Amino acid sequence: CGIVGYVGAQQAAPLLLEGLSRLEHRGYDSAGVALLGGTGLKVAKQAGRVRDLADSLPKRFGGKTGIGHTRWATHGPANDVNAHPHTDAKGLVAVVHNGIIDNAAALRQRLSDEGVDLVSDTDTEVVAHLVARSEAGTLEGKVVDALAAIEGTYGLAVLHVDFPDRMVVARNGSPLLIGVGEKEMWVASDLAAVVRHTTTVAHLDDGEIATVTAGGFTTYGGDLRPVTRSAVTVDVDPAAYDAGDHESYMHKEMLEQPVAAERVLRGRLDDRFGTAHLGGLNMDARDTRAIRRVKILGCGSAYYVGQMGAALVEELARIPADAEAASEFRYRDPVIEPDTLYVAVSQSGETIDTLLAVQEIRRKGGRVVGLVNVVGSAIARECDGGIYLHAGPEVAVASTKALTNMFLGFALLALQLGRVRDLSIADGKRLIAGLARIPEQIQEILDREAEIGEVAQQLADAESLFFVGRVRGYPVAREGAQKFKEISYRHAEAYQTSELKHGPLALVSEQVPTVAIVPDDELTDRNVGALHEIAARRGPLVVITHEGVDLGEVQCVRIDVPRNERELDPVLLVVPLQLLAYHAALRLGHDIDKPRNLAKSVTVE
Ligand code: G6P
Repeated sequence: CGIVGYVGAQQAAPLLLEGLSRLEHRGYDSAGVALLGGTGLKVAKQAGRVRDLADSLPKRFGGKTGIGHTRWATHGPANDVNAHPHTDAKGLVAVVHNGIIDNAAALRQRLSDEGVDLVSDTDTEVVAHLVARSEAGTLEGKVVDALAAIEGTYGLAVLHVDFPDRMVVARNGSPLLIGVGEKEMWVASDLAAVVRHTTTVAHLDDGEIATVTAGGFTTYGGDLRPVTRSAVTVDVDPAAYDAGDHESYMHKEMLEQPVAAERVLRGRLDDRFGTAHLGGLNMDARDTRAIRRVKILGCGSAYYVGQMGAALVEELARIPADAEAASEFRYRDPVIEPDTLYVAVSQSGETIDTLLAVQEIRRKGGRVVGLVNVVGSAIARECDGGIYLHAGPEVAVASTKALTNMFLGFALLALQLGRVRDLSIADGKRLIAGLARIPEQIQEILDREAEIGEVAQQLADAESLFFVGRVRGYPVAREGAQKFKEISYRHAEAYQTSELKHGPLALVSEQVPTVAIVPDDELTDRNVGALHEIAARRGPLVVITHEGVDLGEVQCVRIDVPRNERELDPVLLVVPLQLLAYHAALRLGHDIDKPRNLAKSVTVE
């Protein structure tokens, strides 16, 4: 979900709508705004996109203080009533909320017993009623009273008719920042919402509350004792948040991969010693040598690239490594070992499942480092150190450049771990030379977009597809299937090529194509054998491979990617899969950047 708020001298509605459209990748089931003006509190909200809300907003929807929200449904379906802002029965209070109120059911019951008529299915509505029912004399006091009853996570912004000059905001587990303008102020859950107006921002910490008026802001602890938070000017280019001439953010972000890849490598390759410089890890050689196991945690694409990273760590550093879905990790009461290095991977640095896994590890005394894109995000702050990915803002739900940089981040980590162990200086140098070639090799693949797009046309019509690979190629296949299903809505399933004959081959037919990852490596012959088995069942085949690999007589469409060091192959093999997913979705006429039912960052469990 996304939150934006404004207080100042301008009409708030257009500014809020523009801010919401910048946040839409974070949830797009419904949208709404609440304004405070001469005639009191006005709310407009509905299911659907921000542009639909803009179209149906009454002409005179005036007010110079306002809050807005774009929603990714959790409690209750995406309909007009469940859209935010939520209000109390008298329409005195309006609230927008990100997060989950865990005791909402009990609070709903209590309010209902007290005669309050709850109109929505949401957890958020209780906050509006609680604020309205507080007898405190200030809005800050009312919000504190409401928060005292609430258990859960929240980023909240609250308006009240009796206090028309201000917004009160609160944060616990969901990001919230204050943007400082010239006699006007903003609040937002993400810098993207305000970056065109200001890059001077203050971040709230968990448990903090703030009053925001046109003239400035004051921050408090949960007990309303003032705490000092100063605003800092962040070094970002607002244009980086625009899609420019591209038809979608995903397209723009795919094409940015060569430059993004250069950024994550810059200054970190040490050719003299064949190693990587990763100062942010906060680990010296002795700490590094003491590691006996590496456990990688992430969700979605970050989990799949974590599997690629685990393979790199095992190959280069010979340390047992594996990746696990962060969303499952803490529920199996994991054994946390002091000599395991835990690695949290996240583009946003906000994914709650990953954040909670990090907190679980730290609570049990484990060491966690982060591979995170968003600087200063919750996961980055919780970790003991890390590697920033420097991919730049990523807006499309389907991750591309962040994923590439995650892989390269893992390559750097594996190199450093390897070079304090048995990885020779010669191998280190070989890999460094390979890494340095990656940006231009990604570019070579992107330059063949038209040709790969043609192949996608053939896949787009299949209701169901397999993506298969082995060892290093298997997480590539998983990521390929993930991308394809996310944006084309086709059933795309990943398997180890070796497992096909143990079940899925039953489904292979003329109607069910397979995308096979067949790099030139120690498994090529076996992979080619599996291609024959698929072809014998008339399964259409697209093979992502290297030039010169002999696929025998197999009928297939082949896409060759440039050769690099074998260990680094995944990052190149994955690029055609992005283009296949993208062009299939384009042909099917889908909204590439906002696939149905999904959101860019999931900040609820
Ligand atoms: C969501 C998105 C996925 C993404 C995952 C992890 O589920 O839909 O595309 O891979 O979150 O996001 P993160 O920001 O932690 O990398």
